[in-house]
Parts: sequence; structure tokens; C-alpha cells
Amino acid sequence: MQQLTIKRPDDWHLHLRDGDMLDAVVAESAKHFSRAIIMPNLVPPVVTEADAIAYRTRILHASNDKRFTPLMTLYLTEQTNPEDVVNAARNDTIKAVKLYPAGATTNSASGVTDIKAVMPVLEAMAEHGVVLCLHGEVTQGNVDIFDREKIFLDTVLSPLLKRLPTLRVVLEHVTTADGVAFVQSHSTNVAGTITPHHLLLNRNHMLVGGIRPHYYCLPILKRESHRNALVDAVCSGDKRFFLGTDSAPHTKNTKENACGCAGVFNAPNALSTLAHVFEANNALDKLEGFVSLNGPAYYGLPANGDSIRLVKKSEPIETATQLQVGNESVVVFDPGEPLYWHVEN
Ligand code: DOR
Ligand code: ZN
Repeated sequence: MQQLTIKRPDDWHLHLRDGDMLDAVVAESAKHFSRAIIMPNLVPPVVTEADAIAYRTRILHASNDKRFTPLMTLYLTEQTNPEDVVNAARNDTIKAVKLYPAGATTNSASGVTDIKAVMPVLEAMAEHGVVLCLHGEVTQGNVDIFDREKIFLDTVLSPLLKRLPTLRVVLEHVTTADGVAFVQSHSTNVAGTITPHHLLLNRNHMLVGGIRPHYYCLPILKRESHRNALVDAVCSGDKRFFLGTDSAPHTKNTKENACGCAGVFNAPNALSTLAHVFEANNALDKLEGFVSLNGPAYYGLPANGDSIRLVKKSEPIETATQLQVGNESVVVFDPGEPLYWHVEN
């Protein structure tokens, strides 16, 4: 039996939704994670400080776990006012502004069609050190879906950082070798989050031998060489990378559909999956940095005071394959192989 005790982890990119879904899923994150950056892509989106405060209250109400701290984000729209953002960021419970390119993913219709339209907000954020969380993909119909991240880096983020070199940017759910290299080629104001599923799977897992809708997420899974670059980045211990699970629940019916929703619900087994990946790459000593230390350091927060224990047993973990949400269910991420790392609180 192998054991590993690490500071309690945080999740720097999480979708909790609202209403019945929120009630059903929040405990799955609170079980293992102390803090989580909460995505604002509700319908309607979390745009103002008041929206964020109200949503935070609903999350705390839905969660029975006093240890769980939601860190809120504001959804950047072309109507967002620079002053409002700077004022909201003075609120200790609001940690970032999220930019969705319009049409890039779930509930992104209110997002940004042209980065120039939000330049005054981004300038104010750079001046006041407010973190920008980025869904880093272009949405032009003529760009191949597998190239959307790289084209975003070349045509949007590079010019943006040339113009605002001090802007604090988290390139979220990095999926390509290009994304890894981009983060590594910038100074410490640029960081990247990486998901458990992008570390474990490539696009063949989703498409060979039948289409697996529960592996469909955005940015979409990439080829194996990109997955290897992600694994190398996190297993090197590079402090610019930290965990954002992008756990994104959708009902089974909306995933197993002629036009299925994007998102992987991995909160229940994210840590077991990560321990599996880090062990397979002889890097278990780098796991704590990735899940518990690098994220708080980037956000200027202390690491958590308490710890969790990961224990590798001979029996695989048993995770429920589905979660009930009213009359519907949400399918839990299937890593495709048994996971032996149990999380003990
Ligand atoms: O797969 C995804 N699902 N990617 C995103 O960017 C959004 C998320 C969601 O909200 O479902
Ligand atoms: Zn997301």
C-alpha cells in the first residue's frame, strides 16, 4: 500500500450550475476541495457584483460543508463597465473575470465577439491586478475545431499581452502543446489550468470504436502528442500550471443527444484520476504542487491548512456511475480503467 498526504486541494475552474443541479453536485466538490473558482456561465450569466454575491449565497446554502469556499467570477460582456469590475474585485469573495468568446461553449452567447470591445475593461484589470480567466478558443466557423486554441493564442492572446504585458491571465483548460509553450514563454502573470480528462484522454478515446458523448467537452480532446505535452508540463512541477477540473455537469439526456452538450462531470473522481496519471509518470511528488500549492500561490492566497490522504489500495475505488438530479441523471466521468487511489479525508 502506498500513501500520500497532501495539503487539501482546490479547484481553480468549476461549474456548479444552479437550482436542483447545484444541490446535487456541490457536495461532490466539497468532499475533496476546499476552494473552487466558480464559473459564471449560468442563464442569465453572473455579470455584476450583486449577481456574484447572490449566487455565492445559493452555493453556500446548497453545500452542507462549512469547509467549502466558493471563489466567484464575473462574466465579461461587451456591456461590462471597467469601474464596476474594479470595484467588484475589491470584494474578497470575487477573484476573477471570465472571458468567453461568444459562441465558444455552453452559455457563452453573452460573451465577447471582439476583444476590442472590452479593451477598456481589460486595461482597468491590468492596472488593478484583476485576474482574467480565459476560455482560449476562437469561434470563427472557418477555423477547424482542433486548431481553435492555437489560433486564439496567435491572433488574440499574443497581441493582447503585447498591449497589456502586466495583465494577469489564466489560460484555462489548456489542451495543446502550443498552450503549454505559450504559458511557459511568458512571465509569472500568465498561468494555465489543466483538467484531469485532458491529462488522461486523447481524441481517439472519444471517437474510435464508437462516439462517446461523455468525453465530449470544450476545448475538445486533442491528439496524443498534445496530451503528452500536458502531462510533461504538470509532471515537471512547473508552478505556472494548476488544477482546474472544469467539472461541468449536464443531464444524461442532453449529453446522449443528436446535438449533445459539452462537458465532463469529473468532480467525484478527479483526484483519483490525477493520482493515477502522476503515478504512471513517476511524478507523485509533483501532485501536491499541481492540486494544492500552485493555484493559491498564483491567486496570492495561502495554501489550505488541513490535509487529505491518498491511499493506493489493491481494490479499485467505487464511484457511482450516475448522480440523480430530480427526474434526470448526470453521468460521472469514466476514466476507462480502474483507479486505485482512494481519497481519505
Ligand atoms: O466542456 C465544457 N463545458 N467546456 C466549457 O467551456 C463549458 C462547460 C460547460 O459549462 O458545460
Ligand atoms: Zn469550464
